[in-house]
Amino acid sequence: MQPLSAIVQMFHVYKTFDDNYRALIDINLRIEKGEFLFLVGPSGAGKTTLMRLLFREERASSGQIIVYGRNINKIKAGRIYQLRRKIGVVFQDFKIIPTKTVFDNVAYVLQVLGQPKSEIERKVYAALNRVGLEKRMDHYPKKLSGGEQQRVAIARAVVNDPVLLLADEPTGNLDADRAHEIMKLFNDINLHGTTVLMATHNIGLVGKMKKRAIYLREGKIAHC
Ligand SMILES: Nc1ncnc2c1ncn2[C@@H]1O[C@H](COP(=O)(O)OP(=O)(O)OP(=O)(O)O)[C@@H](O)[C@H]1O
Ligand SMILES: [Mg+2]
Repeated sequence: MQPLSAIVQMFHVYKTFDDNYRALIDINLRIEKGEFLFLVGPSGAGKTTLMRLLFREERASSGQIIVYGRNINKIKAGRIYQLRRKIGVVFQDFKIIPTKTVFDNVAYVLQVLGQPKSEIERKVYAALNRVGLEKRMDHYPKKLSGGEQQRVAIARAVVNDPVLLLADEPTGNLDADRAHEIMKLFNDINLHGTTVLMATHNIGLVGKMKKRAIYLREGKIAHC
């Protein structure tokens, strides 16, 4: 088998916040193209911080982070959008916009990028189809269940075909059945070629999925 190339490489990465709190300590991590990797650990372990470093929401205090071949600590502020274009992000609390329809929530990022209308429609329909919400595109989020709202957030995250999908506790607010459906969806997205990094507390789900898991404890990788 051909060796896969890495989408993410972290070398001796530290993150210290202003109050001198060391949230990440000597993180070394390689995520292969096409991989589905779990990030597990107790509250406060540093999972969200690690993900925020990957799309430059936060900057590493030291160490090197390579995402899709680029040293992201060196990207100038005005160019961060180029990195973010390649990364989809899904959060626990969905973060969809209540005053926009399902279609517009998913289309928004493409509209900001200035893509042509026909292209936007094609991509939004495809993304909503992938998450099974094509019939709901004119609805407003308040009419949707929690699981459906999370699907909108997932459609938005994959609409521009990211190379990397970061999901931070995406099932945290859902019941067990809904959580299972959402995990299946992430698995499908991964099978289509998108690399997935998912933070979760839910060890039960991790066990079922049979994927590699990284354990964080007090900012350090405990074992792989
Ligand atoms: N902006 C910040 N300033 C100071 N400390 C921070 C900041 N962001 C996070 N921290 C601290 O860093 C540590 C790791 O936080 P992080 O949010 O990464 O944990 P987590 O593993 O995602 O936890 P949870 O499972 O509860 O989401 C925590 O102790 C947190 O208080
Ligand atoms: Mg977190």
